[in-house]
Amino acid sequence: MSDLKGVLSEAVEAAFASLGLPPELGRVTASDRPDLADFQSNGALAAAKRVGKPPREIALGVAERLAGDPRLAGVEIAGPGFINLKLSDAALSQRAQAIAADPRVGAASVAEPRRVLVDYGGPNVAKPMHVGHLRASIIGESIKRLYRFRGDTVLGDAHFGDWGYQMGLLIGAVMDEAPAVAAAVDALNAGETADTAAFEAVSLSDLDRLYPEAAAKGKTDTDYRDRARKITAGLQDRQPGYFQLWKRFRNVTQIALERDFHALGVDFDLWKGESDVEDLIDPMVDELAAKDLLVDDQGARIIRVSREGDKRELPPLLVVSSEGSAMYGTTDLATILDRKKSFDPQLVIYCVDQRQADHFEIVFRAAYLAGYAAEGELQHVGFGTMNGTDGKPFKTREGGVLKLADMIEMTREKARERLHEAGLGEDLPADEFEDIAGKVAVAALKFADLQNFRGTSYVFDLDRFTSFEGKTGPYLLYQAVRVKSLLRRAVEAGAEAGPIAIAEPAERELALTLDAFDAALAEAYDRQAPNAVAEHAYRLSQAFSKFYAACPILQAEPAVRGSRLALASTTLAQLERALDLLGIAVPERM
Ligand code: ARG
Repeated sequence: MSDLKGVLSEAVEAAFASLGLPPELGRVTASDRPDLADFQSNGALAAAKRVGKPPREIALGVAERLAGDPRLAGVEIAGPGFINLKLSDAALSQRAQAIAADPRVGAASVAEPRRVLVDYGGPNVAKPMHVGHLRASIIGESIKRLYRFRGDTVLGDAHFGDWGYQMGLLIGAVMDEAPAVAAAVDALNAGETADTAAFEAVSLSDLDRLYPEAAAKGKTDTDYRDRARKITAGLQDRQPGYFQLWKRFRNVTQIALERDFHALGVDFDLWKGESDVEDLIDPMVDELAAKDLLVDDQGARIIRVSREGDKRELPPLLVVSSEGSAMYGTTDLATILDRKKSFDPQLVIYCVDQRQADHFEIVFRAAYLAGYAAEGELQHVGFGTMNGTDGKPFKTREGGVLKLADMIEMTREKARERLHEAGLGEDLPADEFEDIAGKVAVAALKFADLQNFRGTSYVFDLDRFTSFEGKTGPYLLYQAVRVKSLLRRAVEAGAEAGPIAIAEPAERELALTLDAFDAALAEAYDRQAPNAVAEHAYRLSQAFSKFYAACPILQAEPAVRGSRLALASTTLAQLERALDLLGIAVPERM
């Protein structure tokens, strides 16, 4: 189903062609002067230069060809030769009607669906989350939904950081603190049987408490660090004691993370860990060596990835360290292989902090050299940071890094306050009120993030994010809920939706905004920029507000009422869809 912009572009392009002019010049854009026209084409100016005729003359010629098109209520030439197009009410009505009947509310699908994997979130066992993980989750979830909605087959993978030095540190720290755990680990490592009940007692808060201490100690105390490295090597060799304790760490962490992410409306299809590719690493290293890609460098094995014409020297990929361990980039390279075998993605989107841009450039080049992916199939979609008022990456009150659960609870608390201030949801049952506060909180956090182009950094400002006024998530939820309540009242009054007939200016504007949905999605998809969807959602609710203020609905005579109700329910469907693509859910009422 084509949008009006596409349909009009075709008409104007045909007019250009019939005058012997390059058709692509006819393409229309939304009008700069919505008070005068709906769309415009500036092509006559470019055409004039090419054929050496006055632009107005060309514009007039085009206008003549377009005269009589029933979809147009007016074609006017403005200024030096702009062609202004005004749609007929009938054309707008027809398009609005088609959107109303469309389960995809006016959005097209991609012509050639692909298999796409979105690597996002990237939380780690024990290492606390920071704003990079929060943004990765919010943006990645939206990109996953957007690609899926446009027709691709999409998998979202958390790429759980569950392997490496931090695990050795943590195993050592837990053993130091709990003799029963240490005894069981040692026994298992020695090939004996042991009672592992003590493992079950290790909780997430133990890990949270112990990791920062251990990490700090590992930086200053070389013996401590060496022991942690040894344990890490033992774990990677699958020594049974380390391995079983590690599994416990992994499980408690994953369960808690899944719960917290779910509360944020972020749900992964896969929780593959870095550990899952451990078995692939040795054969991969052999293969890389056989392909002559590995170079010895002071005891380490590296792949050189710099290319002629690089503006600056890109460091090599460190595949095996001088101590013989696989590194972060090694796991990423092996993961590319693993994904190729299991899913064979045509596109992998890494939604990760911009600060890792070089890491990915290096890994991607190595993967292309090794033939594990075709050039261009791997894409890093980076983003800026969410900052505190001090301009540095946001930290919680205690100055510590972010805990997802705390951040959500803090936002929920603010949402409850806001709901009370606005007198919303007060007469609803307590559990429903809580559900609403949760949805308001998620909308606040996500919309504040997604309304900016992802590359932009922004300041964490809970007061602004949670406001029911302005360009915020809560404002959009409120608008959607308002439409729901209108539609409920209509049902109670026995009023039904009917054929759409656009007449009033506010109705025209609403229909044009509904029509712009597909272009917004296409832009968001092509540029991996959910902010285009956020912008559309905001515009749509503004257009609805104007319509609601200018056009009586339930009081109108039946045919008009039916048309306006159909417009209202179509707006709601599209708004809910847009919000869903941002990962935001709308409550039934407030
Ligand atoms: N766990 C990593 C971190 O905390 C992020 C993982 C991103 N994804 C990847 N394939 N490297 O920095």
